Amino acid sequence: MAVSMHNTIIITGVSSGIGKTTADYFRARGWKVIGTTRTTTTDPLLYQLDVTNAAAVTDCINMIVAEHGHIDVVLNNAGYGLFGAFEQCSEADVQAQYAVNVFGTMNVCRAILPHFRANHTGTIINISSIGGRFVVPYYGLYNSTKFAVEGFSEGLAHEVLPYGIRVKVIEPGAINTGFYDRSRQEGKNMDYTPEYKAMSDKLWPQYERAGKTGADPMVVAKVIYKAAISNNNRLRYAASRDAHINIALLKVLPHRIGLWLVRRMTIGR
Ligand SMILES: NC(=O)c1ccc[n+]([C@@H]2O[C@H](COP(=O)([O-])OP(=O)(O)OC[C@H]3O[C@@H](n4cnc5c(N)ncnc54)[C@H](OP(=O)(O)O)[C@@H]3O)[C@@H](O)[C@H]2O)c1
Repeated sequence: MAVSMHNTIIITGVSSGIGKTTADYFRARGWKVIGTTRTTTTDPLLYQLDVTNAAAVTDCINMIVAEHGHIDVVLNNAGYGLFGAFEQCSEADVQAQYAVNVFGTMNVCRAILPHFRANHTGTIINISSIGGRFVVPYYGLYNSTKFAVEGFSEGLAHEVLPYGIRVKVIEPGAINTGFYDRSRQEGKNMDYTPEYKAMSDKLWPQYERAGKTGADPMVVAKVIYKAAISNNNRLRYAASRDAHINIALLKVLPHRIGLWLVRRMTIGR
């Protein structure tokens, strides 16, 4: 993409973490950054939006296009991690997790595609995770949403390529953001066994430590920028050192060894 002072990006979930840092990074490079956030706002470049409300997403994207004109890139960043064993998570917990991470991403894609098709150009960037490539226990539901984002994005990339539209997937490893406190959700079904509870009490500090000592969100912002201005059809971009290492391991290790390693390092089996 030819980068000019007139490029415009829409970013969902800009109040913190990767979304906020990426917004600052693009702004510093002369882009017009239009953000969405769940809280009310009077900033003309910030729109209140709950990505789980499909009709509201369509209205919001149409309003942004009407008010700001040409959009070059849309970044689906809004998301959170549901932590807990599957039995620990109620149906409502699971629905809410998919509503934001998967259906929210699809809602935004559905709303922007007619504009991108009419323009014969546009880039959709979806934030997945290294957890969209392999799964750890007690994050299985969150990881499954990122597997869904990966599969959905890959299919969409094939479909929209003839219309001049690119789809990119970003795979961060552990990044030090509000993901591990502010945005963290735990399964609320308390009717689960003490064994799950003991394991969840053991694993959470391990995951939290990985996050708190994880990479700065700026690392991800730079990868998102690279994807946004790329002129090729590359789909996946690992972001952060641990993501690169894990993806390299996935390429060389037999799958059963990978499963064994994850189990040894988590549940000790
Ligand atoms: N941190 C990591 O280690 C890591 C690793 C891999 C992937 N990711 C992914 O990166 C993306 C950004 O996360 P982050 O690490 O920057 O965390 P964050 O600082 O907590 O930011 C997440 C943003 O998503 C929006 N959001 C959070 N929970 C939501 C909910 N229940 N409903 C709707 N929107 C919600 C919020 O935006 P508003 O408050 O502005 O609405 C928030 O600013 C997510 O998709 C996450 O899955 C993070």
